[in-house]
Amino acid sequence: MIPLHRIPLLIDTDTAADDCFALLIGLLDPRADLTAVTIVGGNVGFDQQVHNALLTMSIAGRSVPVHLGARDPLEREWVSAEDVHGDGVGGQRFGGELVTEHEHAVDALIRIAAENPGTLRVVCIGPLTNIALAVQKDPAFVANVAGLWIMGGSINARGNITPAAEYNIFVDPEAAAIVFGAGFAKVTVISWDPLTVTDTVFDHSRIEQIAALDTPLSRFFVRANAATFAFDHENGIGGSTHPDSLTALLAIDDSYALAAGSYRVEVETQGELTRGATVFDWRSSRPNVTAIERIDGPRFFDYMLTLLGQR
Ligand code: RIB
Repeated sequence: MIPLHRIPLLIDTDTAADDCFALLIGLLDPRADLTAVTIVGGNVGFDQQVHNALLTMSIAGRSVPVHLGARDPLEREWVSAEDVHGDGVGGQRFGGELVTEHEHAVDALIRIAAENPGTLRVVCIGPLTNIALAVQKDPAFVANVAGLWIMGGSINARGNITPAAEYNIFVDPEAAAIVFGAGFAKVTVISWDPLTVTDTVFDHSRIEQIAALDTPLSRFFVRANAATFAFDHENGIGGSTHPDSLTALLAIDDSYALAAGSYRVEVETQGELTRGATVFDWRSSRPNVTAIERIDGPRFFDYMLTLLGQR
């Protein structure tokens, strides 16, 4: 059943592994009207990310415009996460033509937000470089966007690429500071710690359940997820983590959230050891984000099982 009013969505992504599964939600959940995908420098090589997004769409059997954005952070060198994700799709190859839009991702973000004033939900699952550039280029962008759903940071807790910082924020802390300080009306943060490492872990038995579906989507998932599963498992997490697909799901259905808090988030941009650390001030009288603190993990897994079971 297609709902009467679908939710206008845009996904800004550094397409690898769990980013691909977030795209599947935007492409296949009937409640979502995925308007476009914008690519930002992050996880793996930029051209590999473009390939991964197009491969994901071909396997989903549905495509939307793909716009190329910033290959590098605002001020810093790109930092790869290829040690975590490999090529991001487990060596799977897209055999079609790599067709992308001529319009730059930042211009697409600005245009699509203006075409959907007050309703466009932007899912941010990579470094925030494109979003920051859109804020800087068009003052109306902030007011036009209904809300940002950001996978990034940790709530005064452990990072992943360093002890202090989560990858998406670490790669471009200046962009994150611009975005969190821009005054968006609604910003929802899906953190690495505590949320991702507590409620989004797919252990071996869950991966086996997904593999047993034996559909094109489940086969794609298992191969694309393998490198992240191995990395996370070797680093003390009992399986693969899925923050990006959770971020996309929460952007269309917040009923999976069990606990959330209002915080003022500031980003460390000066520190050596603390570059990209996110300080979540629970005392602030000027909160700028709602951080999801717990979700219904089993229900999230069941959603993914149903999604990947589609033929
Ligand atoms: O730190 C987790 C984030 O970094 C996720 O967006 C994942 O895709 C990786 O890019």
